[in-house]
Amino acid sequence: MHSVNQTTDAMVRSVLAYAENRLRMTPVPLDRGTRTPQELYRELDGLIRDQARQPDEVLGVYSSVIAPSIISADSPRFLGFIPAAPTKASLLFDMVVSSASIQGISWLEASGAIAAENTALRVIADEAGMPGSAGGCFVSGGSAGNLSALAVARETGKRRLGDALAGRRPRVVVGEDAHSSIVNTLRLLEMDALVVRTPDHRVTADAIRAGIDGLDISDVVAVVCTSGTTNAGIIDDLAGVGALAREHGWWFHVDGAYGGSGVFAPSLKAKYAGLELADSFILDPHKWLFAPFDCCALLYREPALAKATHTQDASYLDVIHTGADRETGEWNPTDYAYHLTRRARGLPLWFSLAVHGIDAYREAIEVAVDLARQTARLIDRTPQLELIREPDLGVVLFRRIGWSPADYDAWAQALHTEGIAFIPPTKWEGETVGRFAFLHPHTPMWLVQEILDRTA
Ligand SMILES: Cc1ncc(COP(=O)(O)O)c(C=O)c1O
Repeated sequence: MHSVNQTTDAMVRSVLAYAENRLRMTPVPLDRGTRTPQELYRELDGLIRDQARQPDEVLGVYSSVIAPSIISADSPRFLGFIPAAPTKASLLFDMVVSSASIQGISWLEASGAIAAENTALRVIADEAGMPGSAGGCFVSGGSAGNLSALAVARETGKRRLGDALAGRRPRVVVGEDAHSSIVNTLRLLEMDALVVRTPDHRVTADAIRAGIDGLDISDVVAVVCTSGTTNAGIIDDLAGVGALAREHGWWFHVDGAYGGSGVFAPSLKAKYAGLELADSFILDPHKWLFAPFDCCALLYREPALAKATHTQDASYLDVIHTGADRETGEWNPTDYAYHLTRRARGLPLWFSLAVHGIDAYREAIEVAVDLARQTARLIDRTPQLELIREPDLGVVLFRRIGWSPADYDAWAQALHTEGIAFIPPTKWEGETVGRFAFLHPHTPMWLVQEILDRTA
């Protein structure tokens, strides 16, 4: 299994040919998508057995059964949830990371990979306006980033409040539109949410002041803002909330898993004022920074606080914790999140940033914002449609006058079946509505027109 022989040679050729073919696809087709569990398990049943099989036979099953039943999130026709659009450079380098088994646990083992990842993190921290001392690591996704950051918020808050918190669960101020992973995180960390009402779906300092007025807030350790809600792309009042957090001594966490990348777009920069105040900030490069799955950049203003929370203590790990980091800048990513073993998943982003330059990223992010703005105008001009709110980022919500939830489902289903687009509806204030999530810079406006024409 580990040696290179005739079978391996043939396998290398077939798998690389498959990968090359996939990499060369432009545009990437949507693919058929979901099949029933019965069908899939029937077709896969017995493939893994005690004896070997020819690699080409197994690859054939992958390409004929598995691949077509995965909707391609990196297709420009994928306009649902949050799409992906990894650059070809990042995908290629992901293959290098895999084929060289590059891990990024400790400086002792992977100094080069970690130094490169940290330069990519630095680009994000600079764009966000975070101080030179900021640092962190790449984790698997926004959920893992939020969990790791809020664990630090909790520990830091407990230290700050000391006896005042004895016997009480810490609380975290959140808006009604905070991502579901924040809600899960609070449950897992045994913290409670102090949910403030945000009639226009945007957390502001005023909304928080109104929400905490007259309450005992001595158990609050943190506040969470979203820099781009998933459902509507709304950016909270980061400057106002950041200042309020400072006033109260709360940890200020900004969840930019989806929308954090918008800070790279010149036309959006002003909307992110206050991000520089964040104690922790997450951004998923696997979303709008064009990296492959799975990759979340997790940054702390004061990484030492994260290290105090996350460092794992085991005798066999003593050799990676020599204290040298304090003097030399050596960095163990494993100390900055809830993980130990980790893939050097920031390297594909690093490679692509270096190859293309940051300006290419700025331009590509602007394309999605422009698509959203053009789509909003098209909706305004279409009699049967209503724009629900002016898009902040790349998400556009719209209503088809007179449609029931079943009509939206039928429309979305037909578009997918015909290979036109993947665009499932969402809910807005309890009502089923249409939603475009633009991210891929190659989504053409004629496709948007075609999708909207189908609402006639
Ligand atoms: C605002 C926000 N936070 C967190 C997450 C969770 O990120 P992940 O799916 O990478 O765990 C998402 C995912 O869409 C998100 O949009």
